[in-house]
Amino acid sequence: MRKAVNVKIYLKRKTLICYYCYHDSFINTYIKDNMTLALSTDYLAKTYSNNLEALKGINLSVEQGDFFALLGSNGAGKTTAIGIISGLLKSTSGEVEINGLNQKNHSNEVKKMVGLMPQEFNFNPHEPNIEILINQAGYFGIPRKEAKIQAEVLLKKMELWDRRFDVAQSLSGGMKRRLMLARALIHKPKILILDEPTAGVDVEIRQSMWKYLTQLNNEGMTIILTTHYLEEAESLCRNIAILNNGEIVEQSNMKKLLARAKRQVIIIDTIEKISGQIEISDCDCEVIDENTLQVSQGEGVSISDVVGSLSEQNIQISHLRSSQNRLEALFLSLTT
Ligand SMILES: Nc1ncnc2c1ncn2[C@@H]1O[C@H](COP(=O)(O)OP(=O)(O)OP(=O)(O)O)[C@@H](O)[C@H]1O
Ligand SMILES: [Mg+2]
Repeated sequence: MRKAVNVKIYLKRKTLICYYCYHDSFINTYIKDNMTLALSTDYLAKTYSNNLEALKGINLSVEQGDFFALLGSNGAGKTTAIGIISGLLKSTSGEVEINGLNQKNHSNEVKKMVGLMPQEFNFNPHEPNIEILINQAGYFGIPRKEAKIQAEVLLKKMELWDRRFDVAQSLSGGMKRRLMLARALIHKPKILILDEPTAGVDVEIRQSMWKYLTQLNNEGMTIILTTHYLEEAESLCRNIAILNNGEIVEQSNMKKLLARAKRQVIIIDTIEKISGQIEISDCDCEVIDENTLQVSQGEGVSISDVVGSLSEQNIQISHLRSSQNRLEALFLSLTT
């Protein structure tokens, strides 16, 4: 329906009166574009004292309620970015806004909004686990009685309740990670930042962590995740940024990014021994050994095309698997 509407559109730094707009879609687009973001960084840069430029002016945008992956190789700048966003590190230049508040001007409010699970263990190893949580709550002004209730909920959730009076150094690596997640959540932050949360965590606990994080996200918490497990990012996150040498080389919706990964490489085990070269139209074939073939599928070639072509060449398949996760292939093409 066409109608004339007088709307106020709130931009990041100024309020602009939009006179008469004749398309609802125009209005919706503009209102969405100018929705308050959970996180935005504006040319954020960090040069360490040894002159290493860890961040070269990055612009990140994370919507409220998003599950966002920040990926990059070792040394790409992820922990540096997270350190600045959570207020632990000072940027060299640039701005950070959390839920529309400038971090420098509203540092206390911003700190309360963010929960950080850091990459390195940074709690007092001699302190009992429950005390670590209660004391952390104290930094945010939460009364001890209230903190104890929240600590109990989180320790149970992280399957650490039985170990609540043990000192932190007596926990295994995976248990310490879970304790750090509980600590990041103790003040019920709006944005949870996880720096490699599942490194060293066993499969069962990792899956229960994923389930819990998905639940928190469904309840409205914005989650920003760094991980080297790309299948973790692929299954949990809706949007993604890839950092390389302190620069963002990709920022996209996960589904759209994966749709760009057209070539899939499959490994095929054959029943018959392969003799000579194998040809499949629009594919690159490489014989790995006499019963194994690697096929890089061309654009528009389906698995059944590959199977059919091999069958015509009297080769039956005993097993077939993908050689590389799609996100992994894209990641490598963007960062190497
Ligand atoms: N305190 C520091 N002083 C000097 N250089 C630093 C410091 N901290 C980090 N760096 C450097 O900054 C760059 C980015 O490091 P950062 O820890 O942010 O990377 P990362 O993406 O988190 O890597 P990883 O995946 O290994 O955790 C690296 O080259 C690192 O050596
Ligand atoms: Mg790091």
